Amino acid sequence: MKGSRKLFVKSFGCQMNVYDSQRMADTLAPAGYVETATADDADLVILNTCHIREKAAEKIYSELGRVRRLKEAAAADGRRLLIAVAGCVAQAEGEEIIRRAPVVDVVVGSQNYHRLPDLVACAERGGKVVDTDFPVDDKFDHLAAPSRAATRARGVSAFVTVQEGCDKFCTFCVVPYTRGSESSRPVGKVLAEVERLADAGVREVTLIGQNVNAYHGEGPDRRPWSLARLLGRLATVPGIERLRYTTSHPRDMDDDLIAAHREVPRLMPQLHLPVQSGSDHVLAAMNRRHTRADYLDVVRRLRQARPDIALTSDFIVGFPGETESDFAATLDLVGVIGYSGAFSFKYSARPGTPGADMSEQVDEATKADRLRRLQEAIDRCQATFNRRCLGRTFPVLFERPGRHAGQLVGRSPYLQPVQVEAPAALIGEIAAVTVTEVASNSLFGALADAPAQKPALVGAGA
Ligand code: 5AD
Ligand code: SF4
Repeated sequence: MKGSRKLFVKSFGCQMNVYDSQRMADTLAPAGYVETATADDADLVILNTCHIREKAAEKIYSELGRVRRLKEAAAADGRRLLIAVAGCVAQAEGEEIIRRAPVVDVVVGSQNYHRLPDLVACAERGGKVVDTDFPVDDKFDHLAAPSRAATRARGVSAFVTVQEGCDKFCTFCVVPYTRGSESSRPVGKVLAEVERLADAGVREVTLIGQNVNAYHGEGPDRRPWSLARLLGRLATVPGIERLRYTTSHPRDMDDDLIAAHREVPRLMPQLHLPVQSGSDHVLAAMNRRHTRADYLDVVRRLRQARPDIALTSDFIVGFPGETESDFAATLDLVGVIGYSGAFSFKYSARPGTPGADMSEQVDEATKADRLRRLQEAIDRCQATFNRRCLGRTFPVLFERPGRHAGQLVGRSPYLQPVQVEAPAALIGEIAAVTVTEVASNSLFGALADAPAQKPALVGAGA
């Protein structure tokens, strides 16, 4: 290993970026880069950017303004600070980034992280490099596997990318353009990574992909495997107690995947299933390829398979053409489904997507008003869901120390954070906890003597 240099990676956006940031750090480790907790003493700062909403590119340029001052301070100290921009803004903007922010040394698109050591070496020699091609080879074949130590430091719950890109082309979304078309990692590669994580103490794995349930990776039999089949196989890996997957498209919730929620006990009873809108008119304009009734039917079948399944969603308000009655249908759907939580966003026109050119754009004030009303409805739903947990006993996976001495924070099967007085030795373990108190975003509980029972938390309607 060469002399050590310090690397700071700042992630914006989704879990896939967090995962990619870790893999970038792993890939740069053999070149002597060790992760540091702040940008202040770094030799290389990577901004791993997100392009999905709002003025993402503008945010990155103002972040680069701050980093420029760090670069100047480092130069005054006789040190050289290298700056790289990665992720979806890098993919979308390419060379434009260096033109607008000459402080940047490397621009690397989301498919090219395995080339980082070469790109950084070039920048160390004083060059400026931009690499945003979509290569034909699989970046995962070239990215370094995390070391045991790196994996340990990352805790008991880990993310594993199994699928990337999207072919759905919802009319508001940049993902098909920034992450490219859908591709799945082969089963063998995913399995090897999950086995390595289990070996290093990971107990919970969340499979991630922009459209994860469209997974069709090549299996050991050289045939494409569905996500259901992959989950079934991963559930047999010793040490992996919990499996989750995100983010799913309602159209790709096939019978096998729904059945997996009945048949694979390690598959946790929680699903993020974005619907975006409750109005058929808006769903059609968004090119979601499903109706409100289709969505309700998927939810009904999921609840038949796993009665206690908790659902979360994403919503967009103020999509072009959304009327007050379309919005009322969205509010109504929130109540009908009884979500355990949801994210909601004001529509933001993304250049290059069909939505950006649609007439009938909704004004800002209306968007802000609808967002507020939707968030209130979601908060009420979440509070109801949490209240139903009071007095119940369920298994909690302990992840880390809590805010107060003697407390640990874990996760319920439904992904709620749970704070419990418990010995530190329980980190990485699953123990039965009885919920004694409920707050808006987390639960409080006590270790139970009895083993956890399976609760029934069926929401209203659907
Ligand atoms: N405007 C607002 N929200 C968006 N999302 C994606 N694109 C946009 C956009 N242009 C939201 C969707 C998606 C989540 C990840 O981000 O709700 O599910
Ligand atoms: Fe974007 Fe998801 Fe639609 Fe694909 S399915 S275009 S990632 S919102």
